[in-house]
Amino acid sequence: MTGAVLAVDQGTSGTKALVVCPERGVLGTGFAPVRPRHLSGGLVEVDPAELYASVLDAGRRALAEAGEPVAAMGLANQGETVLAWDPATGRPLTDALVWQDRRAQRVCDELAEHAEELRRLTGLPLDPYFAAPKMAWIRRHLTRDGVVTTSDAWLVHRLTGAFVTDAATAGRTQLLDLDRATWSPRALEVYGLSGERLPEVVDNAAHIGTTTAFGPAIALTGLIVDQQAALLAQRVTGPGGAKCTYGTGAFLLAHTGDTPRRGASGLVSCVAWRLAGRTAHCLDGQVYTAASAVRWLTDLGVITGAADLDPVGGAVPDTGGVTFVPALAGLAAPWWRGDLRGSLTGLGLDTAPGHLVRALCEGIAAQVVELADAAAADLGSPLDSLRVDGGLTRSALLMQTQADLLQRPVEVSALPEATALGAAAVARLGADDRLTVEDALPEWKPAAVHEPRVSAAEAAERLGAFRTAVTALLAS
Ligand code: G3P
Repeated sequence: MTGAVLAVDQGTSGTKALVVCPERGVLGTGFAPVRPRHLSGGLVEVDPAELYASVLDAGRRALAEAGEPVAAMGLANQGETVLAWDPATGRPLTDALVWQDRRAQRVCDELAEHAEELRRLTGLPLDPYFAAPKMAWIRRHLTRDGVVTTSDAWLVHRLTGAFVTDAATAGRTQLLDLDRATWSPRALEVYGLSGERLPEVVDNAAHIGTTTAFGPAIALTGLIVDQQAALLAQRVTGPGGAKCTYGTGAFLLAHTGDTPRRGASGLVSCVAWRLAGRTAHCLDGQVYTAASAVRWLTDLGVITGAADLDPVGGAVPDTGGVTFVPALAGLAAPWWRGDLRGSLTGLGLDTAPGHLVRALCEGIAAQVVELADAAAADLGSPLDSLRVDGGLTRSALLMQTQADLLQRPVEVSALPEATALGAAAVARLGADDRLTVEDALPEWKPAAVHEPRVSAAEAAERLGAFRTAVTALLAS
């Protein structure tokens, strides 16, 4: 038995930490916000020092609330966020370019002729969302000094001195050979990154090192990228199951088994996790703006925050003819048009805040339906249901809209902190090699199940309106 572990989820908008005990559940929680800067031209960056400070702050709060020592910790990270840093001192050499940042579009445009080769090698399409284009951009425009890595490698180095990344996070770079789960010399060459010193790719559960950053020594025994952490915590551990996490963005992942499955529907094929040398794979689709679209509506003064979605949206019966494609940071799978921006149509003098809220919920949910349909096409069978987690699942309006448009039950996890619980699971596995994956996972139970309440014909009509708006955007 490993006893309680510290699980840290370093996300885009903040860091959450839990102290979790297998027998007694969550003993302590901590949260520290992070404020990325949204600049013109689709730039999104954050001060790395703020990321690290938030990890320490959230972790210390959770440990203080738990009031008991932990032997091990796990760290989940936001995936495709990159920075350059000095491996001798740990000092950042650049700001961190957040996964939503679009500045590396030019790099992708220049490499367009290699798109198919890169997809075949790495499972990922050419898009600035992934780490490698941003790493290449940093090398071309900011600095050639130090190392350039995803944010997890820097955080782990700050915590323990180790220079590693896990197989699932490495799979988000477009530099990992998908079939071998090792760095791809060819992908590095295409990106002009051949001479780079890269972190060692380790299993998701492994003894990485020891940190005293939170006070007493704690072994770091689990690393995982956040979406895959949620897939694990939602107990989607075999082919055919799927989950969607509604965080800053919304991310649908479907488990595809032990061998990579390159889809034909525009989804990403990547590593789910590598445990005890055995690699599991998944298909992954992204909605770039979910909670960040809610925040946008909040900044405009339409609502006062996410808690307003249900009361404000509930004040009207429907969208009032408004269609919102909330592509505020571009469209990802299955369209891969990061250059596009959102559209809002059907506005009238009678459009009320509730119509905008409902149109936003509809726009997020419709994109998730596209991803679920793409996953079903690639898997050869429809998803039976969808397990969901993340902050926006607190909106019954959004979840009901999701069930209605998907025409499948939407099972809301009773564990809103699924990502942190996935980090806790890999930490436990890394600390105790006698544990099985099943032993390490929390019990799965839904807090609510939303059944579709509208007919298939109505769902098709509403999806049709959304698709028409997307088609107009794609043609614009
Ligand atoms: O790919 C980016 C994504 O994993 C970020 O997740 O929770 O910060 O929205 P989150």
